[in-house]
Amino acid sequence: MKTTATFKEMKKNKEKIAMMTAYDAPSAKLVEEAGVDVILVGDSLGMVVLGYDSTVSVTLDDMILHTRAVKRGAKDTFIITDMPFLTYHSSIEDTMSNARRIMQEAGAHAVKLEGNGAVIEKIEKLTQAGVPVVAHLGLTPQSVGVLGGYKVQGKDADTARKLVDDSKQVELAGASMLVLECVPKQLAKLISEELTIPVIGIGAGLDTDGQVLVFHDVVGYGSKHVPKFVKQYTNVSLNIKDAVTNYVNDVKRTEFPEVKHTFTMKDDELDRLYG
Ligand code: KIV
Ligand code: NA
Repeated sequence: MKTTATFKEMKKNKEKIAMMTAYDAPSAKLVEEAGVDVILVGDSLGMVVLGYDSTVSVTLDDMILHTRAVKRGAKDTFIITDMPFLTYHSSIEDTMSNARRIMQEAGAHAVKLEGNGAVIEKIEKLTQAGVPVVAHLGLTPQSVGVLGGYKVQGKDADTARKLVDDSKQVELAGASMLVLECVPKQLAKLISEELTIPVIGIGAGLDTDGQVLVFHDVVGYGSKHVPKFVKQYTNVSLNIKDAVTNYVNDVKRTEFPEVKHTFTMKDDELDRLYG
């Protein structure tokens, strides 16, 4: 199985890292079989699977349940699990205990935390305790209320400088990887060059050490709004809707089940039944 050491090595060798989200066993199995290097059980779960408007409603129990399912589907892939909203912001003890549940109860190989400032110390403490930490900077969806929407981050020199500084700080604190979301490609390139840990981009251009996308966006499954940075490779929603529509019509017209879907009993048993 690839590990944090493999990903660092891949960066050194300029071999791109392909990360993708998964939330359940069948999707995790497909993602693994397709050759994804690392799976993220993202708290995007809240939006693409659970039907919430943002990631703010996702709980630790939600993340644990879905990580366990992903583990059963993808046994040989490194799994990162998002720590959800406000589960790593109060005491270091609470943060540790929440990370412990994600690692021990769910079986994740690493946790991902959004943000800078006070979160840096959490990254440091977790790493010292032996928890591989992935940092997430740029557009941090758990802070959508503070950021005032899902917008590109670091477009001017001042905010860009802050993002470079924050990136260096998370690396210094011991983060194993950095996810950079929705930043100009020039800035993502600069940060990827400045850091020794792999930088995985989403909406961050070609020059990061790897890419991550949301499973449902890639396969076109139920996603309402598809952001500019997404490449939708297929649209399984259309296939699914077609299939279910045909099923409903078959039921109404008694065209399903057919003989091949049907069990029968022998005539003499039938005679005995009617006596
Ligand atoms: O929750 C998620 O899917 C993420 C990725 C978009 C990076 O954090
Ligand atoms: Na997330």
